[in-house]
Order: sequence, then C-alpha cells, then structure tokens
Amino acid sequence: MNSSTIRQTFFDFFKGKTHDIVASAPMVIKDDPTLMFTNAGMNQFKDIFLGNKPAKSPRAANTQKCLRVSGKHNDLEEVGVDTYHHTMFEMLGNWSFGDYFKEEAIAWAWELLTEVYKIEKDRLYITVFEGDADDGLDKDQEAIDFWKTWVPEDRILLFDRKDNFWEMGEVGPCGPCSEIHIDLRNDDEREALDGAQLVNKDHPQVVEIWNLVFMQYNRMANRELKDLPHKHVDTGMGFERLAMVLQHKQSNYDTDVFAPLIARLQDAVQQQTGQRIKYGEEGQTDIAFRVIVDHVRAITFAIADGQIPSNTGAGYVIRRILRRAVRYGYSFFGLKSPFLCVLAKVVATEFRGVFPEVENQHSLIAAVIEEEEKGFLRTLDKGIARINDILKNNDAKVIDGKQVFELYDTYGFPVDLTALILRENGRQIDEEGFNNYLQQQKDRSRAATTMNTDDWVELLEDDVEEFVGYDRLEAEVRITRYRKVTVKDKDRYQLVFNITPFYAEGGGQVGDTGYIEANGEKVSIKTTKKENNLIIHFTDALPSDPKAKFKAVVNAGKRYATTNNHTATHLLHEALREVLGDHVEQKGSLVHPDYLRFDFSHFSKVGDEELAKVEQLVNQRVRANFALEEKRAVPMDEAVAMGAMALFGEKYGDLVRVIKFGDSVELCGGTHVQATGQLGYFKITTETAVAAGIRRIEAITGDQSQAWLNDQLTLLEELKALLKNPADVTKALQDLMQQNAQLSKQMEALNKQKAKAIKEELVQKVREVNGVQFLAEKVSLDAASVKDVVFQLKGQINDLFAVLGAESDGKATLTVIISDNLVEERELHAGNIVKELAKEIKGGGGGQKFFATAGGRNLQGIETALKKAEAFLS
Ligand code: SER
Repeated sequence: MNSSTIRQTFFDFFKGKTHDIVASAPMVIKDDPTLMFTNAGMNQFKDIFLGNKPAKSPRAANTQKCLRVSGKHNDLEEVGVDTYHHTMFEMLGNWSFGDYFKEEAIAWAWELLTEVYKIEKDRLYITVFEGDADDGLDKDQEAIDFWKTWVPEDRILLFDRKDNFWEMGEVGPCGPCSEIHIDLRNDDEREALDGAQLVNKDHPQVVEIWNLVFMQYNRMANRELKDLPHKHVDTGMGFERLAMVLQHKQSNYDTDVFAPLIARLQDAVQQQTGQRIKYGEEGQTDIAFRVIVDHVRAITFAIADGQIPSNTGAGYVIRRILRRAVRYGYSFFGLKSPFLCVLAKVVATEFRGVFPEVENQHSLIAAVIEEEEKGFLRTLDKGIARINDILKNNDAKVIDGKQVFELYDTYGFPVDLTALILRENGRQIDEEGFNNYLQQQKDRSRAATTMNTDDWVELLEDDVEEFVGYDRLEAEVRITRYRKVTVKDKDRYQLVFNITPFYAEGGGQVGDTGYIEANGEKVSIKTTKKENNLIIHFTDALPSDPKAKFKAVVNAGKRYATTNNHTATHLLHEALREVLGDHVEQKGSLVHPDYLRFDFSHFSKVGDEELAKVEQLVNQRVRANFALEEKRAVPMDEAVAMGAMALFGEKYGDLVRVIKFGDSVELCGGTHVQATGQLGYFKITTETAVAAGIRRIEAITGDQSQAWLNDQLTLLEELKALLKNPADVTKALQDLMQQNAQLSKQMEALNKQKAKAIKEELVQKVREVNGVQFLAEKVSLDAASVKDVVFQLKGQINDLFAVLGAESDGKATLTVIISDNLVEERELHAGNIVKELAKEIKGGGGGQKFFATAGGRNLQGIETALKKAEAFLS
C-alpha cells in the first residue's frame, strides 16, 4: 500500500464507524501560552476535553501535523540517530467526545490493524497501565479485560506511569493508555527471543505504532488529578511508522514518505560536490540523510503555517532546526550552498493532496529557507575563520571553554562542529569550562522568566463566558474563576468573567484595558488575552470581594483608536492585492491603538508609486464611508461564497464571523468601525523587508495621522519662515544650496592661495640653530591648511624642525614636524615634544615621531610655547 492509500484507508474505516473526518489543526499554535507547536492530535480538542467547549459531533478522525521539539514531548535528539522518530510527523487519530470508551476503541483498533491492514496478529503486543500509588490509581483491569477478547493474555504487558499514563504537558487533560507495539524482526530472531521482552526497550524493530488514551482526568498545578466532566477517547497512530510496517521496511525513512526526499538530497550532494553518496551505507552519512529529510519537512510545514524563522520563541525553534539540518549537510556532505530550499519543493509536491497549504506557498517557503541557509552558511564560514585564529594564536591542547562558548553564543557556531574541527587538529574543548558558561547562561535566562501559575479557584459553577464587547464597552460582570500567577516574585492575578466587554488579544489586535469596580474599589485590567477558549483579564491585584458584582468598563479611547486601525488593516490588505496582485497574502499583523503593522508576501520592495496608489485607494474607501456589514456565526462555506479568504495557519471554527466594507470581505474576530469615514485619513509611514519574500507596512489613521500631517506642515512653515517666506520654497532652497556650493569652492581656492603665501613667508623665516633648520611661528590658518603647509615645508627643507601655532574655532593648536633623519640623529620625537609644549596652552596632544599635534584652551600660551620650542635643540 502506498502512503496515500494507507491514509485514506484509515479515514474510510472510521467513516464507516460514523466518525466525521476533520482537518488537521495548524502545526503552529497561536493562542496557547503553554504550547508553541501541536505535539499531539488532541491539542485542538483540549477545550472539549476540559469542558470549555462543546464538541461539534461526538466522533471524529483525522491526520494531524505534529511537531515534537520542545516541552514535555521532545524527540529532537533521537531524530536521525534512530530510524523511527521524527520532529514533524503525521498522527492518525480517532476521537470520542464523551461517546464510546475503552471497549470500542480497543475493538476497532484491533479490527483496523488485523482485518483491514492485515498485520499478522502474532506480531502485535499490547501494553496497559499498571496503576500508580502516588496518584492513587489502580491497574487498568477494564482495558485488560477488553483486550483479552482479542489477544492472548501473555501478550498483554503492564507498564508504569512513564509509558502508560499519557499527559499532554505539566498540567491538563490526561489518562491511562494502552499502546499497540509491533515486532518486525525475522522468524529466527523472534524464535530466539520473545518479542515481549523487547517492548519499550528502544529496539528499532519492536516499536509502538498506536496509542489509545482513555482521557478522564485533569492534572492540576499541585499534581492532583481531577475527574474530567466526561470520559473521552484520544488515539494516535504514527503514520510514518504504519507505512514502514505495511510496506515491509526496516525504517520509516525507507518508505515512500521519505524516498523522494532522500533521492533529491543525493542529487543535490552530487551537483554540489561531484560525489554520489548512497543512503543505506550506514554510519554518519545515513544519520545526516535522515536528519536533513526529517528537518526539512518540519521547517517547510512550519513556514506554511505562518511561522517564519526568527530570534525568539517558536521562530527560534524553527531556526535551530533549520540550522541543525544545514550543519549536517555542511559537515557530512560538504554542502556549502543552500540545498534545503530545493528539498522544500519536493515536500510541497509530495503533500499536494493532503496539505495543499505547502504547495500553495512553495515559492515563498523556498525563498525564506534559502535566505536563512545563506545567512547560516556565512556564520559557519566566519566561525571557522575564528577557530583558525584561535588555533594559530594558541598552542594549548585544550581550548578554553570561554572561547568555545563565545563562538557558540555570539557567533551562533554549533559546539559539536567546534569539537569536530578541534579534534581534526589534535586539540579538544575544555568541556567543563564550556558547560559552566552554558549553565550560567541558562540560569540567567531562567531567572529572567520564572513564572509560577496556581490552579484556578472556581467561584461560579456555570461559567460559560460570553463576549459582548462588539456591541458595548460596559457590562455588569461576575468573576467565575481566578488564579494567582507569580512572575519574578510579584503576585499577579488572572480573572475570568461570566460575560465580558473586554476584547482578548487575537487576530493581531491588542487586548483591551480598563477597570472593574465594586463597592467603590477599582481594579485596573492591564490587558486581556485568550487561553483555551477562556477570556482572561490580567490584573495586579485581586478585588477584596471577588464574589461581588462588578461594573466592567473598557478604556474607550484606546479601543476606538485600535478599532480604526483594524478596519484600516482590512482596507490596506484589499488595496495591496489590487495594486500588487493576488499573490499578496497576510503573513502577520499588529493592530495597536497608535498604529498598524501589516506583513505580507511580496517579492520586491513596494515602489513609491505603488505605495501612493495603495494609499489613495484606501483613502477613497474611507471617504466612500462604507458601512460595516457584519455577519456573526455563518457557516464557513457561506463565508467563502461571500468572497472571504481563509488564511493559512489560522484555526477557524465551523461558524465564522465575516466583516465586509465595500468589496473588502474578511474572516475576522476583531472590532471594527460602524463606517469607514471614522478612520479620517490613512497614511503609510514605512515600508520595509521582514524576511525573504515578506514585506512590512506600518500605517496610521485618525488622530495619529492628523498629528503626523500637522507635524509635517509645521516643519514646512518653519522652513519657509527661515527662508523669509519665498513664493517658491523649493526654488529658494535650491538657490541657497547652489550659492553655498559656490562659496565653498571659492573659500577653498582662497585658503589654498593663502596657505601658499604663508608657506613662502615661512620659508624665509627658517633659521639655523645647532645645525638644524628651525622654525617657530604663529600662523592664521585652519587646521587642514596647517597640516598641508607643514608637510610641504618638510618636503622642501632638509634637517627641518618646525613648530606652528594657530587659533582655530577659539582653540589654540600646535603642530610639530621633524625631518626623518633628525628623528634618528638627534633623537627628536614630535609626539613627546608636542605633549610638553601643550602644557603652555593648557591642553594635550600627541602623535608620531615626525609629526604631532596638540590642542588647548589657553590662546595666550601659543607665544610661550613657540619660544620654548627652541630649547629642544640645545
Ligand atoms: N495523545 C496521544 C499521543 O500523542 C494519543 O493520540 O500519543
């Protein structure tokens, strides 16, 4: 079975069991501070499990793009070393939301694997939760009993919490699980050693393929387990492993999921280095093949979901994965030019049918990757030059940990590569020193971010939260739950209300601020954010009576300005597509009360004329005063029929909100003006690059754009006044500049003439003292001319020792010049002499042996200094 058929068979099977087939959620998570990337199929259903949101239908099945590179589930270090872990992988899952439980989950998993996929039954082993005293949980006898219907008891094995109690993270939904493992060894090996002995022992051919989780608890911050409102089923089957099994391969990387990528990588290596390196020869190059083809999928899918590599957060994780891949290509294949961007195109083609978001954006993805690769390859070159420097200037066998850390920290140079290069040169890293520095850095960053979140304190049972902030800015509210969050030793609070007028940060728009008030006590709301479908209000204090009824008031001025900028963002998006073309897609957005920032895909700088056109279109639509047409809760297909465009990497519910102004139609949860005239005037302030193929526009509206215009006009008025209010300002300024240029030229010529005359006078004044041609004079010349004159004198007169004093810009200056031969023969040093003489002008200076200058504040001292100069010759 090829991999597409394997996937489709899974869907068809569960469709037959009345499951809805649902889409994968984006791999990059945007509204959950506890998780950067989807690391399990259940992430998108977390709210349903917790009871914060109803399920659309009780049964679902899907394939989910997952990335396990951080937090509780992190496989990064295993990837490539073994043959069955990945950073990005697909997880096939079936779901029961408070519907069927263990019996059906077990029976159907068995039926699909053995009847449909026809896997030999005697290769399968089952693991079950053995219970846990600390958590007060018994052995999962129920699961054992259901399994016994299908599997002999000696193939059902008990394991502890680590293997058979699945938790999403430190807190959150969890439950006991049953895993299905498969033994892929040949008959002789299986004869010699019972597969049961190898389950959960990291054997490459005895691996887990499917995990059935029986979700029934919520892990609290104090480690306690609470019952969930309902019992659910969450299963996850590694798609790439299933393909390995069904295609009778020894490794995930030998399946048709990876083969095209490996083939293309082999070609890339050959093109760049002339060498044909085969995959499957074992050893380091095999690991490199696996690392690269694994990582390129992760990077490609992440960028498709809107995560551009960057220096912080999720973007940094993606950048590190990308660099790891480049590093393996560089070290093991000698790839010194970009190659991942080429592989990304293969990913796009291969996944066209399942995840079209990659194919649709493939040029952008390739451009972003290529630029990142180039940047990191330059880093590698610089780092290697730096290591060579270190080796040249240092004979020690063990290289200081501090230097290695600097390479890593400041230059971004990978430590293992440093180690490799040092080894090749018979040197090594001071591991302990390096680790010390690394630890210190980690401690520093941990101290900077330590945050402790308590469990929710529930005040009201029925806490279905309602957002009323589209229609009003005030409401009477009750606190349904709150929790304390300690950040850097300061207590802060997060409150959830039954209804709220506060808009939670989302869709680029900043969260509302304001206050709540009861019994004369006001508590200010610092910001509002969303987490797992809850609207959370951030405060510095807890009201003295949390159970009171509060008047909640949104800061109206800030909301008004923000709303203007949100509507402006829609009009800008529309105008950009009209002026630049349909390839323009939103890649990021910030809607702030002071301005808006909009990132979009476009491959070159937006020219001045294009920007002017965009601005003009937006302002026409502002003046057209289009009324808001808002549709709340329309089905997705209806919205699309209205012309709304869904963004890649955004998660939408089945019912969406549509915002229409004139021909601009968008899916949007933000706040908007009643009619576009409210924006006043729209002005673009900057247009810059963010990454390859991504541009950024910042713009302002309303009071901000008026203030901006007034500033420009004031500036113009000031300039006019300075120019004595000419009829034509531009011409007046041009005349002035031209005059200025002419004058400068004349001035320069005059200075030259003057210097020449003065030099000739000076030549006459040179006298012999002790066999030296001596000169000490005060001249009225600027500093540049003095320098010019002394060097001319030096060229003209042998055995010269000259000191010139001058006044320039109210300062006294001294210049000393000495013929080269005198420097040797008479041991004269201009620098030392000028230092000594500078005392007279109350200043300081220095220079070389034959030429030096000094400056000081005492103009009267010039004469004395000149008199003193002769003393150096006696
Ligand atoms: N949540 C479980 C896992 O990720 C099953 O889907 O393994």
